[in-house]
Amino acid sequence: MNRIAVLTSGGDAPGMNAAIRAVVRSAVYYNLKVYGVYRGYKGLIDGSLTEMDASSVADIIHKGGTILKSSRSEEFRTAEGRSKALKVLKEHQIDGLVVIGGDGSFRGAQELSEMGIKTIGIPGTIDNDLNYTEYTIGFDTAINTVLEAVTKIRDTSSSHEKATIIEVMGRRCGDLALYAGVAGGAESIIIPEEPGNIETIIAKIIQGKERGKLHHIIMLAEGSGNASDLQKKLLEQADVNARITVLGYIQRGGDPTSFDRILASKMGVRAVELLLNKKTNQVIGIKNNSLFNMDITESLSAERTFDRELYKLTEILSF
Ligand code: F6P
Repeated sequence: MNRIAVLTSGGDAPGMNAAIRAVVRSAVYYNLKVYGVYRGYKGLIDGSLTEMDASSVADIIHKGGTILKSSRSEEFRTAEGRSKALKVLKEHQIDGLVVIGGDGSFRGAQELSEMGIKTIGIPGTIDNDLNYTEYTIGFDTAINTVLEAVTKIRDTSSSHEKATIIEVMGRRCGDLALYAGVAGGAESIIIPEEPGNIETIIAKIIQGKERGKLHHIIMLAEGSGNASDLQKKLLEQADVNARITVLGYIQRGGDPTSFDRILASKMGVRAVELLLNKKTNQVIGIKNNSLFNMDITESLSAERTFDRELYKLTEILSF
């Protein structure tokens, strides 16, 4: 293994830059040539890559986004797109690739490993929706970003005694809504892992209203439906006129927290060491504060473990 490359793919996440830095710096440390691929798999197909050195990644550990840019490539999903990407890697004599991203990005890494490229996946997504690992890079920062918004909304929501629906990202995963909701003292949390709880929540709001409690923060994970539909239900069934705040892309930006920077640094170094040990089709994860690696294919079929105890806290603490 002499030459490796690194790319970021899918939705960007705070801490991706810290992971790129760790991959590049550890490659230099271990005397490997290292390339940065721009715009994820799209850049791999287009041959948009550049050789990097220690100074290419100076002053980025604290920055959100990704200096390598990101994309979601439709062309890479086709056999033709993938063989173009393979050709580019071969032309540059690159035989190892580190992919920083989510499940779609890992599927791409899996395909490339079947084509003879050694691939390692680093989990980078604010969604925390990769079931094999406790945490993904970017999740902790996103929780704090959402929490800051919830804290501010809480001030106005309680001053005006209004119900508020805060819609957060996460695709089909409710972790972002759950963690930020518990930390922000939200009265209700609606997540895909607990379907059918909307009626219970409406009953809770009605009970609160009867006791004279008029403000109510509802954290709604985007995977549980649309904020406007919920707003309509609240008006029809509880006579509550709730305001909506959709946090949107603000959740993907910002300086990474220390947790995300450290996680990214550890995982970046581990990825390069795995390549040096000729490992392929592996992802890196964290469990009980220890890093581990496992087969990408197995990681993608890992069962979802949802923190039900954390979810239960809202029932006990907020009413
Ligand atoms: O996967 C990260 C994420 O921000 C999800 O939370 C969200 O559903 C999706 O990406 C939005 O994707 P796009 O950037 O394509 O709108």
